[in-house]
Order: sequence, then C-alpha cells, then structure tokens
Amino acid sequence: MAELNGKNLVLGVTGGIAAYKAAELARLFVKDGAKVVAVLTESGARFVTPATFQALTGNPAWTDLWDARMPDNMAHIDLTRGADAIMVAPASADFLAKLAHGLADDLLSTLCLARDCPLIVAPAMNRQMWENPATQRNVKRLVEDGVIVLGPDSGEQACGETGMGRMLEAAGLFEEVVAFFQPKRLAGRRVLITAGPTFEALDPVRGLTNLSSGKMGFALARAAAEAGASVTLVAGPVAQPTPRGVSRIDVVSALEMHAAVMRQVADCDIFIGVAAVADYRPARPVADKIKKEDKPMEITIEPNPDILAEVAARPQPPFCVGFAAENRDLEKYAEGKRQKKKLPLVIGNLVQDGLGGDSNTVALLDDRGRHQLAPAPKLEVARAIIGHIAQMTGARGK
Ligand code: CTP
Repeated sequence: MAELNGKNLVLGVTGGIAAYKAAELARLFVKDGAKVVAVLTESGARFVTPATFQALTGNPAWTDLWDARMPDNMAHIDLTRGADAIMVAPASADFLAKLAHGLADDLLSTLCLARDCPLIVAPAMNRQMWENPATQRNVKRLVEDGVIVLGPDSGEQACGETGMGRMLEAAGLFEEVVAFFQPKRLAGRRVLITAGPTFEALDPVRGLTNLSSGKMGFALARAAAEAGASVTLVAGPVAQPTPRGVSRIDVVSALEMHAAVMRQVADCDIFIGVAAVADYRPARPVADKIKKEDKPMEITIEPNPDILAEVAARPQPPFCVGFAAENRDLEKYAEGKRQKKKLPLVIGNLVQDGLGGDSNTVALLDDRGRHQLAPAPKLEVARAIIGHIAQMTGARGK
C-alpha cells in the first residue's frame, strides 16, 4: 500500500522474547516505504542481533550511547532528528518504568526522553509483570503523557503461562502504525454509522436476515476514527471486533436500529448508512416456537422504516451517505436511490464484488458524477470513501 512512504521511523527493541517479532515489523515498515533505524537496548541485542536489523532496514543499527560512528557523538539526539515516530516493540516492563519516570541511562531511553516526535510502545511481558500495580501505574502515566500504547494481547506466553502480556503480532502493529499516520481529515466531526444485517424475528429461534458481514461498515467506522472523528457505530448482529476508539451500540432488528439511530442523530455531522437493513419484518412475531404442520404456511410481512431516508429528510440533516448493493445496472439503481432519498453521496457496489468478502469494488456517486475506485481491501476502500466525504463536507460546512 506504501502508506508509510517517506516516513522516518526509529524502531526501539528492548529485552524480551517478542524481540523476534520486531524483525518482522522492521521488514513490514521497510516494505511499505518507511526509512527505519533500529535502536536496541543491551538486553534487546541479546535476543536479536543488530546485524539482523541492519540487514532488514539497510541502515546501521544502534545500541550504544557512546557509538563513535556518529561524528558529533550525539547519537541520542541525531537519531530522532526528522523522525516521524519512535516505535518501541517490544517494550519491556523495565523499559516502560524507565519511560514513565523519565530515566535516560542508555541510548534508547535517552532518545525517547530527548524526542520531538510521537512515541508508540508495544508492551510485552509475563502476565504477572503486566498485572503488577507498578506496571499498570506506569502505563497509565505514559498514556497521560501522550504515549500511544498498543496492546498487549492475551494468550499463550513464552513462560508457558496464559494471560495478558503478549506483544501484538507484527502485522497488527504495522496496521496500527499505518492507522496512526492517517491524515486527521475528520478531526472534530461526529460520525454515526450503521453496519451489518438486521434480524427480524419470526419466533424465538427463527427470523428474516441477510448475508451482510458488517465488514464494510466496521472498516468505515475504523477509517473515520483514524481520521480523527468521534464515531458511533450502530451494529446489527455480526461477529466483528469493535474498532479502536469507536463507540458501539448493538441492535438486532430494524426497529431497534431505527430507534438507536434516532437517539443519536441530532448529535452527528455525518451519517453513513452501511447496514443492510431488512426492508420487511414479520407482522406478528410469536412468543412460542412455531410448530411444523403439514400444510403451506403464510407469513405476513410489513415494511420497516427506511432509516437513511428518514435521517436525510430531517429539517437540518447531517451529511448523509448511502450504500447501494446491486447485482446489475449499478449506476442506474444507485443514482436512483441517491435521487430518491436526496443524498449527497451514494456508494454503489455490485453484490458479487463485495458481499461477505475482505475486498470490495465501489463507485462513488455524487452531484459531480461517478468516481470509480479500484478493487481493494475494505479498509483501503473505507479510507478512500472517508477522504471523499471529508472533501465534500469540508466545502459544505456542517
Ligand atoms: N437503508 C436504511 N433503512 C432501510 C433500508 C435501507 O437505512 N430500511 C439504507 C441502507 O443502509 C443503505 C441504503 O439505505 O445505505 C440502501 O438503500 P435501499 O434503497 O433501501 O436499498 P435496498 O434495500 O438494497 O433496496 P432494493 O432492495 O430496493 O434494491
């Protein structure tokens, strides 16, 4: 994706078995276009050697405050000059304690103290070390100081125990760093998003629903949050993790989704309806399980409220974005929906391109016409849509 193109990163590696994951992280950063300089603590260098990082990054790796390779002997300052961030992965309990107290007794801690750029840490340690009140206090202090703490995760640990303290995987850390560098194009905006299917109960165990996975809506919530917005996500029944920093309201039926949206909508600047809301619900859901009978059965279904249309018809509507999933004549149907619901922007996609999958091919339809996006992973598509919304709402005001 080359989203880190031109970024200068200092990758700090402290002493922990998770140091082996830092080598993979360095490779991912470099592959994505970043310039990476690795700085290892003495213990870090016992787990993975500086030579590994030198080979992976194409730059000398550093360990020593007194390294004579730096002409002015100012490695503690020079290495972070022009850096866009310092990322310490793994960050040991000892290193977090040092950071929290402003100690600077080796090259990496001195660089962190003398920095003029964001500091991101990925803690990694045994679960008891993580749970220790001292570590918790230190992490809290670091967060208060503006340090970004990624993880840890819970799971099996090198010591054989299971619990909180595992460092996030390299791919996950890489994604978080990419997210961190996203332009804050929606800073200060409040975004309300619906996602997933709805489930319309017929009896206690059956109902009408559809195949929406919620992935596109969740990706948009994540992309909006990454862009600096305050995001509320009203989600139908899906198995998707809540994106970092997003406030989530779980609902089941279209009526519940409608009610949740109407409670939130007055406080939002941008409304994005991604949910595949069931157009109809059984008119009379029954409390007891329907028993099989040897004859045809009739179910009366009645229309659900159109949430998006209702939001767009408010006297002072937020900027409304709709989704149109079609299986043919995409532009005709999607533009028709845009006109009918009076939306400034509709995202059209062919169901065969996106439903349930991890990537999507969409076209953006607005007053200026059709903008086709190339097929891409849903998060990348979501970032492009958010960029487009930011551009349109920037010119529009509210
Ligand atoms: N939508 C909504 N409430 C509904 C139905 C749809 O908010 N009850 C929103 C969806 O979140 C999406 C857009 O409206 O943004 C989809 O438009 P719609 O015309 O309802 O699409 P379909 O239901 O797919 O229409 P059709 O079945 O006629 O193709």
